[in-house]
Amino acid sequence: MRRRLVAGNWKMNGSMASAAMVDEIAALSRDCDVLICPPFTLIAGLSGRGIPLGGQDCHTEAQGAHTGDISAEMLRDAGAVAVIVGHSERRTDHGETDALVAAKALAAWRAGLLAIVCIGETEAERDAGRTLEVIGTQLAGSVPDGATPARLVVAYEPVWAIGTGRTPTSDQIVEVHGFIRRTLAERFGKDAAEGIRLLYGGSVKPGNAAEIFALADVDGALVGGASLAAADFAPIIAAAG
Ligand code: 13P
Repeated sequence: MRRRLVAGNWKMNGSMASAAMVDEIAALSRDCDVLICPPFTLIAGLSGRGIPLGGQDCHTEAQGAHTGDISAEMLRDAGAVAVIVGHSERRTDHGETDALVAAKALAAWRAGLLAIVCIGETEAERDAGRTLEVIGTQLAGSVPDGATPARLVVAYEPVWAIGTGRTPTSDQIVEVHGFIRRTLAERFGKDAAEGIRLLYGGSVKPGNAAEIFALADVDGALVGGASLAAADFAPIIAAAG
């Protein structure tokens, strides 16, 4: 039985004043895993408040001459237990390829972090009927060999649903998540694939969370905007159990 995970991706938002919100979330009684991925600058300051933390990206190397970058080992040192890699905003803003995302996932594993690998089609790709082809290519290229339930979470985030208030239909989510599960099973075996959690992300809100969590092969959510305030994030966590 997979334990649900509700992960908040704060993106480039938040400050140390957000500690109050983290404390509110930590005080909730819940029966699911919760993770908050704040900007790098907040990880050390927000750690130890009862909510596990993750980074939003990492470099492939452990240290060296890479101005402005942060390694997986540094995230771990700051108190993180996980890192998001391959978010569509990284792929778009920084030209990240599947191969680079896979290398970052390996770096996460090297540092003992859970890697949350993001994949998702653009609206043009969906309109062209290419969704599963794109998802298959991203999965093959972005997830390294050696994936296990303890090391990997896959987040399906359709690019056109991120920050737009639009979500896929339930049938569309079930189709993609089922495809991801089957594809992981072909590569890593049925047992591993059955244990790897698949998150849906893209305009998850208090009003649609319960419906999304009830879908087959949906094991939680990667939440952007609605993870910034306890008033929004708490009901999403409650919907997960
Ligand atoms: P929103 O929940 O703001 O649509 O963002 C989703 C996302 O990109 C999470 O990684």
